[in-house]
Amino acid sequence: MRNGYELFVRPLLFCLDAETAHHVTMRLLGRASQFDVALSALKLFQPRPKPITLFGLKFPNPIGLAAGLDKNGVAVPAWAAFGFGFIEIGTVTANAQPGNPKPRIFRLPEQQALINRLGFNNDGADAIAQRLAALRVSGRWPAVPVGINIGKSRTTPLEQATDDYLYSFRRLRDFADYITLNISSPNTPGLRELQEPEKLSELLYVIGKEAGTAPKPLVVKISPDLSDTELKAILAVCEENGVSGIIATNTTLDHSSVAPQLDQAGGLSGTPLRDKSTALVREINARSTIPVIASGGIFDAESAMEKFHAGAVLIQLYTGLVYRGPQLLREIMDSL
Ligand SMILES: Cc1cc2nc3c(=O)[nH]c(=O)nc-3n(C[C@H](O)[C@H](O)[C@H](O)COP(=O)(O)O)c2cc1C
Repeated sequence: MRNGYELFVRPLLFCLDAETAHHVTMRLLGRASQFDVALSALKLFQPRPKPITLFGLKFPNPIGLAAGLDKNGVAVPAWAAFGFGFIEIGTVTANAQPGNPKPRIFRLPEQQALINRLGFNNDGADAIAQRLAALRVSGRWPAVPVGINIGKSRTTPLEQATDDYLYSFRRLRDFADYITLNISSPNTPGLRELQEPEKLSELLYVIGKEAGTAPKPLVVKISPDLSDTELKAILAVCEENGVSGIIATNTTLDHSSVAPQLDQAGGLSGTPLRDKSTALVREINARSTIPVIASGGIFDAESAMEKFHAGAVLIQLYTGLVYRGPQLLREIMDSL
């Protein structure tokens, strides 16, 4: 049976092109985030709590908002009101940047999928730090953990990537309960090369050193398109550097399940990514003790349970939320 969002809200949003629908939603949730009455109304969707503690943080439930939906951190109180157990904002880059030319988000409803090639459009670390500082002062800072996902600015050469991440880390760490290093988006040229052991080692070492005596949990977000050898090497580097968690996975460049007439360049998310991302979660869990946060194709209770059975400790939603709405949270939590 369809839920209220699927019956009444999604048809309206899907009349708009995908990016306009996203902007309309973010504007509404951004406004709602400023008013206590509106936030109380959103709380109608809240699932019952099922707390867990991970890397010293208390999560009221294991379902988080995946990075990319609220890149600029404009609606943090609204996500908490919906009942997310944690919220990951970003990807934030050191420089504000417009991203790739539009159109750059495409729906594939038959496959419950999206393709995007946004390219880290965001307001930049300085503006986002200011916004988060204002949110703190407003008294509406959420009671759930907030992760900040950082990535490389497009104009920064790959050889200077570490400095770019370092800049965002310094600007944003005080607002973050954990920091995610995004080294797996397919839409910033060269970014995935940071998954190579030497480059990843350098990045983790420099950020770890900067964190010094007040370390923040560091989480690494990886691609689903890694070979077995690449995954092994990444896990070894993450273990050596005391990484707190791994997010598996980002979007895929494997479009073999997409009909050629519907295909677009960019990262594929949603149901076609589900099996690949679950397989990686299972693989990491078998080989390492680093906790895994699963992301990829979670659309219902069954696909969520699959991730937990594969060894995930937390899960994150993006495409499932676009297609199924906020009631998805309660649907999943009721089955746990
Ligand atoms: C439109 C769109 C934008 C995204 N932007 C980001 C991003 O900025 N940073 C990031 O780490 N992941 C980003 N992602 C990836 C998601 O966070 C998630 O890992 C991926 O889509 C798989 O989960 P899903 O199948 O539930 O969507 C984006 C995904 C989509 C669909």
